[in-house]
Amino acid sequence: MGISNDKVIIFDTTLRDGEQALNASLSVHEKLQIAHAIERLGVDIMEVGFPVSSPGDFQSVQEIARTVKNARVCALARAVEADIKACADALKPADQFRIHTFISTSDVHVQQKLKKSFADVQAMAIHAIKYARRFTDDVEFSCEDAGRTPIDNLCRMVEQAIIAGATTVNIPDTVGYTLPNEFGGIIETLFNRVPNIDKAVISVHCHNDLGLAVANSMSAVQAGARQIECTINGIGERAGNCSLEEVAMIMKTRHELLGVHTQINHHEIARTSKLVSQLCNMPVQLNKAIVGGNAFSHSSGIHQDGMLKASNTYEIMTPESVGISKTKLNLTSRSGRHVIKHRMESLGYQESDYEIETLYADFLALADKKGQVFDDDLEALLFNIKQQDQQ
Ligand code: KIV
Ligand code: ZN
Repeated sequence: MGISNDKVIIFDTTLRDGEQALNASLSVHEKLQIAHAIERLGVDIMEVGFPVSSPGDFQSVQEIARTVKNARVCALARAVEADIKACADALKPADQFRIHTFISTSDVHVQQKLKKSFADVQAMAIHAIKYARRFTDDVEFSCEDAGRTPIDNLCRMVEQAIIAGATTVNIPDTVGYTLPNEFGGIIETLFNRVPNIDKAVISVHCHNDLGLAVANSMSAVQAGARQIECTINGIGERAGNCSLEEVAMIMKTRHELLGVHTQINHHEIARTSKLVSQLCNMPVQLNKAIVGGNAFSHSSGIHQDGMLKASNTYEIMTPESVGISKTKLNLTSRSGRHVIKHRMESLGYQESDYEIETLYADFLALADKKGQVFDDDLEALLFNIKQQDQQ
């Protein structure tokens, strides 16, 4: 896949790494709904399952491969022939597809989990990549637990994977252990030491165990990685994966500094986030960046006053840019008279309809009791004041 050097490929794995962490699995119909939303969002590649794992997974990969046309569809395989063959069979209905095969490379995984030598693992990886290339010319190879893999072994494995035919080589921080400068340093070392590195796209796949998945992915991009693997709302194993909406909006908002872009249709972000949250039964935390309920709401009086003067005082991107209709100014005891007048105006009242000092005093008394005051509460306060005036 030829790409310009300032384009970052977005590889969505909501339906594979994201789905594997859910309490209840999604039906084929639900997976199709999510796949089509992710397609509308404009991702380059979507990883949609692990076909060898179950007949249901195989069927959903097959259905998605049959109907998704505007993104490349990919499925996961361990570095064994049966898994790779299952991917090729399930993905066959797609015009073009990617097979993603992986094996662990860290000492702890190679010795404790696989009970093999590093040489055995290397041989399995090379065989798997060559076998996958029989079915497609788009093969991705992942060095599982790359973040904890000795750097000499990682360099050797990446070089061998590219020679064997991998067109994308993925560097996962499987357990979310690395720090941003450390992870960026690993990518930089690969670019400095692997002689054939420019023959493949270097991808990253970061988990969020220390809350660093997005920071690590961006650090890797600054070091030369050109594919980010991520999920909607950051869902995934344990503390989740790198969040798609966050990296997409970082590259849009800080484009001048970073010099890279994605092809994400950012206006679809809120809608896609809501669909995934509902179907996966995974509520999004209120203060989650970009898609949390409070991401574009302002509570303090000072901030609300600033927002009424110019929206860029406290917002670095507009809610409309991610598909949310407008900024919310929460009415709380920290809100000032200015925001109350503004809200009354948006509810259709003119200043001559009420006396601001009286309304504001009643509003503060109510806000102290109940926290957030809603539009209906404000209108009820006005109604009560009018009733009392008439007595
Ligand atoms: O976290 C991980 O290492 C993975 C690989 C299969 C890419 O999900
Ligand atoms: Zn993962």
